[in-house]
Amino acid sequence: MMPLVDVAADEVIITDVAPRDGLQNEAVDFPTADKAAFIARLTDAGVRSIEVASFVSPRAVPRMADADVLLTALPLRPEVRHSVLVPNMKGLERALSAGVREVAVVLSATETMNRKNINMGLNEATAVCVEMLQTANAHGLETRAYVAVAVECPFEGLVKPGIVASLSSRMAEAGAREIVIADTIGAAAPRQIRDVLQPVSGSVPVSMLALHLHDTRAMGLANAWAALEFGVRRFDSSAGGIGGCPFAPGAAGNLATEDLVLMAQQCGLDTGIDLERLYGAVDYAGQVLGRTVGGRSSAWYRRWLNKRNSTPSAQR
Ligand code: COA
Ligand code: ZN
Repeated sequence: MMPLVDVAADEVIITDVAPRDGLQNEAVDFPTADKAAFIARLTDAGVRSIEVASFVSPRAVPRMADADVLLTALPLRPEVRHSVLVPNMKGLERALSAGVREVAVVLSATETMNRKNINMGLNEATAVCVEMLQTANAHGLETRAYVAVAVECPFEGLVKPGIVASLSSRMAEAGAREIVIADTIGAAAPRQIRDVLQPVSGSVPVSMLALHLHDTRAMGLANAWAALEFGVRRFDSSAGGIGGCPFAPGAAGNLATEDLVLMAQQCGLDTGIDLERLYGAVDYAGQVLGRTVGGRSSAWYRRWLNKRNSTPSAQR
């Protein structure tokens, strides 16, 4: 067991996955220009890592069919990471043609989840991820590797932490710069997060680990805290808490970025993200989707903001 770390005055790196994990699943159309505007608002709020799209089969995920066009509409800024998810070599080739600088490969920890998600078994998926990572590195791209359903699989149940550890180590050996431990369906509790991080950190440095959380059972923040105590400083969350995998039944929304930023702020951790501006992005996404979106803290935050804005500035 690693010692508890002093998390005060530390930095937390958030990758906002709303444009990909969030929008892939939405029934409502989200036009390409609006996606670009949403991403610009996230950037204005200080988000420095955004998963902007996936290069997957448009038949499998129609909402990501505009990924190539979207990439041409996004301004490149050296300080902002734009990553795209790639499921296979064809996806990586599309990413390379689009001039992408960072890709995320996805390996699920179980046989069935790989089949449902990318139509490959675990062994083939592992080999394809290794090949993609090597090719991406040879082209000088930054790389993330998801180990999905890292705690529980919707088809095969609880996943053994040792399997997640060996797949993580395999991805790191193949050159992944960031290993993303993903609670794809939001089934984990904080103790399970610790139980999986423990063996994973035996072969992959904690500084390379990220945690991708969903909030299905309202334990997203508690799980983030467990990971912070373990020393993890990288998290995937989604503005507005929108999200869920169409191939993983029961996956509700991602952990909301605004909830994570609020917790980080109150605990003296620096995310570099301005909460009020982040809400600008959240509300924009809500307008396009035609419904109110927001994390579990959003009702409180909006009340607080209204009150602050209606108080004459001299009294603030
Ligand atoms: N991008 C676009 N098209 C692709 C593609 C990609 N990355 N990979 C395959 N295709 C196309 C092929 O060209 C082929 O097209 P055609 O029928 O017009 O010739 C068709 O898809 C089938 O190709 P095949 O290699 O047999 O793929 P498949 O049917 O076994 O599907 C995936 C495999 C990976 C493409 C598909 O399951 C997928 O896109 N999954 C993504 C899942 C996802 O996004 N999950 C959420 C994030 S984890
Ligand atoms: Zn997810």
